[in-house]
Amino acid sequence: MATAHPSTAQPTPFTRTAAPDAAMTTTAAILEARDLTKRYRLGATTVDALRGVSLTVGEGEFVALMGPSGSGKSTLLNLIAGLERPDAGRIVVDGVDMRTLDDDAATVFRRERVGFVFQSFHVLPYLSVADNVALPLALAGRRDDARTRAMLDAVGLGDRGASLPRELSGGELQRVAIARALVHAPRLLLADEPTGNLDPESAAQVIALLRDCVKANGATALLVTHSHAAASAADRMMALTARGVQAAPAVRRA
Ligand SMILES: Nc1ncnc2c1ncn2[C@@H]1O[C@H](COP(=O)(O)OP(=O)(O)OP(=O)(O)O)[C@@H](O)[C@H]1O
Ligand SMILES: [Mg+2]
Repeated sequence: MATAHPSTAQPTPFTRTAAPDAAMTTTAAILEARDLTKRYRLGATTVDALRGVSLTVGEGEFVALMGPSGSGKSTLLNLIAGLERPDAGRIVVDGVDMRTLDDDAATVFRRERVGFVFQSFHVLPYLSVADNVALPLALAGRRDDARTRAMLDAVGLGDRGASLPRELSGGELQRVAIARALVHAPRLLLADEPTGNLDPESAAQVIALLRDCVKANGATALLVTHSHAAASAADRMMALTARGVQAAPAVRRA
């Protein structure tokens, strides 16, 4: 890594929604999704991935989202991140209506305010562990070696920064992914089955770490998981079904 230097870049000033819909409570909500519809067209057939889905996540909450395969969980995360656009409905993230952002602005917004953890890690194989973690800062033009080291320490990989990803275990790689997802202090962390490739013991450790890191960074998290054990670490469990998002039966608030 290059020599540490203070970060100089200022966050881009995105416009907060001036007049939110009466139906949308923006107070202390980091994420508001309302009546989202997403339909994929495959030749002559269409797939309704989401039909009128609404979800609110409050600031600082760690929410688990469960639901059967194909119920639209990944689609929902992609829409929230601005990677895809809904056919109908509205998404407000950290006070910004995603409809007001063109593709370039959505990319910048995502880099600054959103962090991701995926099931398959998505680490870059030719970059060191430290450079993988530092990537969101580098992309945002604000490299910060001290912050990168602090995140590596936080996930217990302080001595592995110079390693290459192929030298790490699956659980260690997922910890790299967590450090990378939070290094730029995003407001919202989106995690899509982050423990799907791990054994139950590693999965429990990774979820506990994810929760600790999210809380320590003052972030808000939406975690998609098939694992009840993982979901039970959340403040709130939600289920995505054909009828939309609903509170899951075993709700536990921290
Ligand atoms: N790019 C796409 N093109 C066409 N259909 C898609 C596309 N992405 C998703 N779908 C369809 O939309 C539906 C929802 O998919 P999605 O990946 O969101 O489900 P999921 O809840 O994440 O499932 P899983 O638990 O298996 O990951 C599925 O029927 C899927 O086949
Ligand atoms: Mg999925």
